[in-house]
Amino acid sequence: MISVTCIAPVNIAVIKYWGKRDEDLILPLNDSVSATLSTDHLRTKTTISACENYEANKILLNGIEESFENPRLVRCLNEMKKLAGRSSKCNPRILGWKVHVETENNFPTAAGLASSASGYACLVYALACLYGIENEEISSIARQGSGSACRSLYSGFVKWCKGQLPDGSDSIAVQLTSHEYWPEMRILILVVNDSRKKTSSTGGMSTSVKTSKLLKHRTEQCVPQHTKGLEEALRNKDFETFGKITMQDSNQFHAICLDTYPPCVYMNDVSHAIVNMIHRFNDLKDSIRVAYTFDAGPNACLYLLQKDVEEVIAVINKVFPNDSIGSSEYIKGIPTNLPEVTDLTNKFTPVGRNMLKYIIHTKVGEGPKRIANDSLI
Ligand code: DP6
Repeated sequence: MISVTCIAPVNIAVIKYWGKRDEDLILPLNDSVSATLSTDHLRTKTTISACENYEANKILLNGIEESFENPRLVRCLNEMKKLAGRSSKCNPRILGWKVHVETENNFPTAAGLASSASGYACLVYALACLYGIENEEISSIARQGSGSACRSLYSGFVKWCKGQLPDGSDSIAVQLTSHEYWPEMRILILVVNDSRKKTSSTGGMSTSVKTSKLLKHRTEQCVPQHTKGLEEALRNKDFETFGKITMQDSNQFHAICLDTYPPCVYMNDVSHAIVNMIHRFNDLKDSIRVAYTFDAGPNACLYLLQKDVEEVIAVINKVFPNDSIGSSEYIKGIPTNLPEVTDLTNKFTPVGRNMLKYIIHTKVGEGPKRIANDSLI
């Protein structure tokens, strides 16, 4: 029997992927850009073993057995075996063995916190380690598990290039910056609701492609401009431009969701109250200090610089008072001092109590890693 255990990060897009040109191969209509988040706070951990005595492939997700019949899962396994076969780095006998996969997330699954991204990135990376091909280009295989998963294979800021070839071989992720490139960058995830979401990203974007008349304009005109501007902002470490494009791209993505018929409504009243709070904060500072972005769920992901974290948390605590403020279970991740009430916080009024479940304070991080002696099986 052979076995490996790996961890893989979550990524949060600042230029959103929304819409496929090929649903089977998971080929996107537009490029997208994301930041990989630190595995210290959010990660998937997967152990894969292969054994000649295993009778069937098996997968356990957070301790519960799931069906291996899932076509995306089967395709990732088969494509990895093909790649390993071609590379001749793996004993062909091993490629004939069945696998047992055990995977767990240390954050709520399918709550709009990109669990499919870290999940498929971890699966594909662990298979690569199992078969000795971790240095091959595997992002085009992770993409076939879940589109956004291809971006979780790299550290730092990452671009998924949509590609042009019909077989999808050029639809791959590339690293734009290392995770150490902009060390002051911080991320605050405001968890509004961590129950399972109602419309999956897969279902939502498929309906958008069929029904939204605005989507074509977004993918052809707006995303290329946003991507160019964002890459330039990263090169110049220009937070003002980075933040503005991030917010505009998120707002446009949710506008597409509303233009979808029937509409996909992912943001809720608390999400919109967060948007208002951030714009008010930036207005009072006379510059963009914090940017929000929302995926296919109500949780906010805020990008900001380390110097502003305490003041932003003070404002969040004022606008969203919570009975758990002060507990380490409320603000998880990078430790923060409980901030003082300031002249600035006095300019905000509370929206309502206990509207946020918890906050995760994290930063840009590294890609997947093999870890020793920590098997889940
Ligand atoms: C809103 O990658 O989950 O998070 O490819 O169908 O598995 P599938 O979709 P998925 O979609 C993610 C959409 C998004 C934006 C993004 O991450 O770019």
